Amino acid sequence: MKVSPRKGVLSITPYVAGKPIEETKREFGLKEVFKLASNENPLGPSPKAVAAVRKALSGINRYPDSQGFCLKKSLAEFWGLKPENFVLGNGSDELIELVIRTFTEADENIVTSEGTFLEYSIIAQTNERRIKKAPLREFKYDLDAMLELVDPKTKLVFIANPNNPTGTYLNKNQIARFISLLPEGVITVLDEAYDAFIDVEDYPESLATLKDNVIVLKTFSKAYGLAGLRLGYAVSSGETVSYLERVRQPFNVNLLAQEAGAAALKDKGFLRKTRKVILEGKNFLYRGLSETGIKYVRSVTNFILIDTGFKGKAVFESCLKCGVIVREMEAYGMRNFIRLTVGNKKENRIFLKVFKKILKEMRK
Ligand SMILES: Cc1ncc(COP(=O)(O)O)c(C=O)c1O
Repeated sequence: MKVSPRKGVLSITPYVAGKPIEETKREFGLKEVFKLASNENPLGPSPKAVAAVRKALSGINRYPDSQGFCLKKSLAEFWGLKPENFVLGNGSDELIELVIRTFTEADENIVTSEGTFLEYSIIAQTNERRIKKAPLREFKYDLDAMLELVDPKTKLVFIANPNNPTGTYLNKNQIARFISLLPEGVITVLDEAYDAFIDVEDYPESLATLKDNVIVLKTFSKAYGLAGLRLGYAVSSGETVSYLERVRQPFNVNLLAQEAGAAALKDKGFLRKTRKVILEGKNFLYRGLSETGIKYVRSVTNFILIDTGFKGKAVFESCLKCGVIVREMEAYGMRNFIRLTVGNKKENRIFLKVFKKILKEMRK
């Protein structure tokens, strides 16, 4: 019998994730494939997190702690806040949805930017919420254009800071001014998935003073190397957090993720090493890209947006055949671009070699 989905489901463009390594090996008959497509940590997970997972494995017959007591305590110590300032999520993706479901009525809208993390739009759409987007300006969020989109029915604003896929950031003063100009009752969500890679002085200290109308999202998927376990958290005032907690599924964060997260937070050495590898790798890639005469956007994150000068999809496909998975940017409306995750030394070297070869062929 034929079934039909809820109204609006057919107009959703599904999220396309980075292509998996195993699938690429099979498809192209390759022995070795390098994935530089999903902004993951090239060092792997923290060994301390792996040890914590191993230790916890024998307990997976039990449900996880629905309150995430130990992890919230660790997060509170780490940030100098209270456990009641944190909500845990199955990745920050889940928290984006939780915020939308908790705070928006059917007739209220959400404001964000074009050229940003696609999940804001997809999740708004799947929850039948209108999302309004201001164009990017020189690869950055245009906060003034976003303010103009805010109307009496606007309830949420999503800002990825730093932004994915551009790798640019908004500074302390820009964010503070923007929030101060929003009408009362509008909640700003600052998605700081890449904050651990920041190497600039004027990045906002979003957790220094918590406000009811600001929700900060963080993730363990990037610098902490735990993308496969799915763990993120939202931080805000106790009151704002209490609303999110009412809507959250009770066992949304699994037991292994909770243990790994607490252990990874304590592994400061791993984070330092990750930052060093990314900064060095990024400089190496900048130099290599400059040699090709190709334009790229300078990034404060672990990825680089590259203007290939050709169809990004064609470059992506040529890279795939050579065993390098990058991300094409058509879904972001950036046809000539690819996004490259900074890898380890070997991965970066191989990418540049493959990329230079492809450019040479395309320029013929
Ligand atoms: C800006 C931004 N926010 C959130 C996420 C989702 O992260 P998570 O793995 O925690 O769901 C990503 C992942 O790429 C991202 O780029």
